[in-house]
Amino acid sequence: MNKNIAVIPGDGIGPEVTHQSIKVLNAIAARYYHNFNFTFGLMGAIAIDKTGDPLPQATIDICLQSDAVLFGAIGHAKYDNDPSAKIRPEQGLLRLRKELQLFASIRPITTYPSLYHLSPLKEKQLKGVNFIIYRELTGGIYFGKKETSEDGSEASDLCFYSKNEIERIARLAFVAAQNRRKKLTLVDKANVLETSRLWRKTIQELSPNYPDVKVDYMFVDNAAMQIIVNPKQFDVILTENMFGDILSDEASVISGSLGLLPSASVGVSSVLFEPIHGSFSNAAGRDTANPIGSILSVALMLDHFELHEEATVVREAVEWTLANGFLSQDLDPVNANYTSTIGEFLSDYISNDIPMNVNAKNIAFGKTTII
Ligand code: IPM
Ligand code: MN
Repeated sequence: MNKNIAVIPGDGIGPEVTHQSIKVLNAIAARYYHNFNFTFGLMGAIAIDKTGDPLPQATIDICLQSDAVLFGAIGHAKYDNDPSAKIRPEQGLLRLRKELQLFASIRPITTYPSLYHLSPLKEKQLKGVNFIIYRELTGGIYFGKKETSEDGSEASDLCFYSKNEIERIARLAFVAAQNRRKKLTLVDKANVLETSRLWRKTIQELSPNYPDVKVDYMFVDNAAMQIIVNPKQFDVILTENMFGDILSDEASVISGSLGLLPSASVGVSSVLFEPIHGSFSNAAGRDTANPIGSILSVALMLDHFELHEEATVVREAVEWTLANGFLSQDLDPVNANYTSTIGEFLSDYISNDIPMNVNAKNIAFGKTTII
């Protein structure tokens, strides 16, 4: 199979985790005789530094010509601490989502038995947790009209939704539920917000078309609590842009680390894959970041290409590294493996090289060396 992949490494730890994903894709290409062509584009703080624009037109063009986009991370601490900066890295990603019409971000939450002890939740709450968040991505308060008064003492962000924006992501979420455990939870704040009432009304109207899916409704404050006290109850969570942003970071701690979670952003025709974590610019270049969120995003990309066997091998490789204790600093600060070492393990596993190379004695002692 021939595929053109646009790669936007972005800022902070983005380039180093993306680099591991490319290694993994190259290992898959070699094992299964595929041809993945990578074209690189600039976005974020790095694009501002080099071109003055967080999303140069050339990057949009590369993405439009690609079969899929692989994105790293965006943002830099120097902008976080400067609320008056008019040009900001994040504007690049938000504009790209809008340009490519990526209206749904799909964020699966999985647990790994070998990491149960790293989760702040108790083991009995973790067993069997498997849900997926459908986060609306191109509407709501993120994209509504923004205003600051002339004297700078007042500001507003409008939260706007149309029925059409709600319906198109809802249909995807209903179908996902049909293919899973047939439960959809709409998370909103319909006791307070007009937009949330529109979400609820729209879902109530759509649900008779999916009679096999059980729909329930939950206020976002309650949902934030339920994700911690009883995450097993969820199958598909459908929610608006900002609630989905917040809940997906919260949900990531269930797995053990924010660094583990992948996402797929889909819409009209383009598709983009990115880890849900941020750029963590203070750790950039240290080779300490967790590459698994990006690598599992590659597995979602392979699924999108209908290369399901390949996607399964990538997930197996990830489970293998986690189960054998080859963990990055966020998961194991004492015996941490480098980002690049984990990338090597994964690509070696995929190339069928790993089992003979690993020193089992060191694994048993939880050490990091392989010979
Ligand atoms: C995410 C990120 C982005 C968002 C930021 C970087 C703009 O947090 O993808 O979850 O808020 O959507
Ligand atoms: Mn986020």
